[in-house]
Amino acid sequence: MSIEDKLKKIDDNNKLAELGGGEARIKKHHDGNKLTARERIDYLLDPGTFVEMDKFMISENTKFGMDKNRFLGDGFVTGYGNMNGRKVFVFAQDFTVFGGSLSGANARKIVKVMDMALKTGKPMIGLNDSGGARIQEGVESLAGYADIFLRNVMTSGVIPQISAIMGPSAGGAVYSPAITDFIVMTKKTSYMFITGPEVIKTVTNEEVTKEELGGADTHNTTSGVAHFAGENDEDTLEIIKELHSFVPSNNMEDPPFVPTEDPVDRVDKELNTMVPDNPNQGYDIRDIIKTVADDNYFFEVMEHYAQNIVIGFARFGGRSVGIVANQPSHLAGALDINGSVKGARFVRFCDAFNIPLIIFEDVPGFLPGTSQEYGGIIRHGAKLLYAFAEATVPKITVITRKAYGGAYCVMGSKHIRTDINLAFPGAEIAVMGPRGAVGILNKKEIAESDNPEQTTLEKEAEYRDMFANPYVAAGKGYIDEVIYPENLRKKLIVGLDLLKDKRDENPPKKHGNIPL
Ligand code: HXC
Repeated sequence: MSIEDKLKKIDDNNKLAELGGGEARIKKHHDGNKLTARERIDYLLDPGTFVEMDKFMISENTKFGMDKNRFLGDGFVTGYGNMNGRKVFVFAQDFTVFGGSLSGANARKIVKVMDMALKTGKPMIGLNDSGGARIQEGVESLAGYADIFLRNVMTSGVIPQISAIMGPSAGGAVYSPAITDFIVMTKKTSYMFITGPEVIKTVTNEEVTKEELGGADTHNTTSGVAHFAGENDEDTLEIIKELHSFVPSNNMEDPPFVPTEDPVDRVDKELNTMVPDNPNQGYDIRDIIKTVADDNYFFEVMEHYAQNIVIGFARFGGRSVGIVANQPSHLAGALDINGSVKGARFVRFCDAFNIPLIIFEDVPGFLPGTSQEYGGIIRHGAKLLYAFAEATVPKITVITRKAYGGAYCVMGSKHIRTDINLAFPGAEIAVMGPRGAVGILNKKEIAESDNPEQTTLEKEAEYRDMFANPYVAAGKGYIDEVIYPENLRKKLIVGLDLLKDKRDENPPKKHGNIPL
């Protein structure tokens, strides 16, 4: 064969592989408002940087006439390229080839890039769009899933893993994305569930649509499985790029520094009045976060789930920071089961990847109620406590108003190794709010009073003077500084700078036993 023929052979094979399941299936895919696997990778990565691997891999299966029905690449596109100028590994399932189903061969492709991502310390991005296990391959396909799950677990906490769900993801196949750090789902075209609507109808007699059961809205609002929802494929991929810009490539690196023109000593007078005087009045903690962050930008994670706690990324003086904040405008910022789990997982991600934590605290306590107690708030609330306590990254807490009871201890108190604890002058740090405390301490006096309401108010005022202020805690060194709120940005940036070379570690162990 002449060299021209040899070169042409590469060319022909490339074209064949790039055609995926063929033009008709690609058209159907486009008509369903979806980009193909290769178009998604092109959109995601910096132009011209993608290097494809195993483009000519084929399935070895011969059953069901599969030997006469082979596709170069076997339906998955894998390789590496640059995102935001940094190397990442990526796989994309091509729905036009056997519905993006997982075979023994294409599972080996994924395993190969996952192993390389781990060895080289680069993030792993998975673009999922698959009918699940390739039915024609039986256990070979199940083995492939298990090989992937193992790598998801082994790489967890070493390299960031981000999953996009851009089509179906059903059955046990959902567990690979579920182990990864973040899930972004595309609205209307994606869904995730363990068992689909037909099985549910048969077993429980419930009627539910695919979208209601496992669409992007459901997993972003009700189940907490997903962290973001993209409007369409492009939006989903933009979210991944944005998320990646905040995180390091592996657990040995610091997050990327992004220089800013925003002055590090900016004073924000409006902060002095942002927290309402009335302790029962809500306000949006995101206004405070945005006021102090670089360029007033806050990238919120799980925005629509457990809104009583706010989590996300921001930058301060160019440094990437993870924010965990009580949200007084929702459930008065009380901690509940969902909020605790949401916060705990985020704290552990930041701690694993050297991202400092800033905690904004305004919390009346844990949410009371039988549904919370029966649901295990003790166990779930303990997760948040555990996560904050075990975290060794720089930690700064700002008490903007209430810090009551167990929630005071949990939300980055000095006692669980928080490095810098600041309080606004209106901070109230006590075992419980004045109303509850007076109801217990002065029960008899109030009952015997001629004017119970008046006595209650007087006792509350006494209690407030005594405990509901930051000065008792400041007097004991549990608060390092009561600050002028207008200086918050400056204080946070100076603190982060001070802590940038912080060294702290936990005792040697195989692993702790977080109350799962
Ligand atoms: C082989 C598959 C396939 C699969 C789809 N196809 N799923 N081929 N194995 N699992 C093929 C179809 O035969 C079809 O081929 C093409 O992909 C497109 O599928 P359609 O059904 O035409 O598309 P659509 O109407 O959009 O429906 C998509 C779908 C449906 C909802 C995903 O195909 C479906 O229900 N598939 C089966 C899903 C499933 O039960 N998977 C196993 C789950 S259990 P042609 O040639 O016509 O284009 C599992 C276990 C994992 O995954 C366990 C891990 C531990």
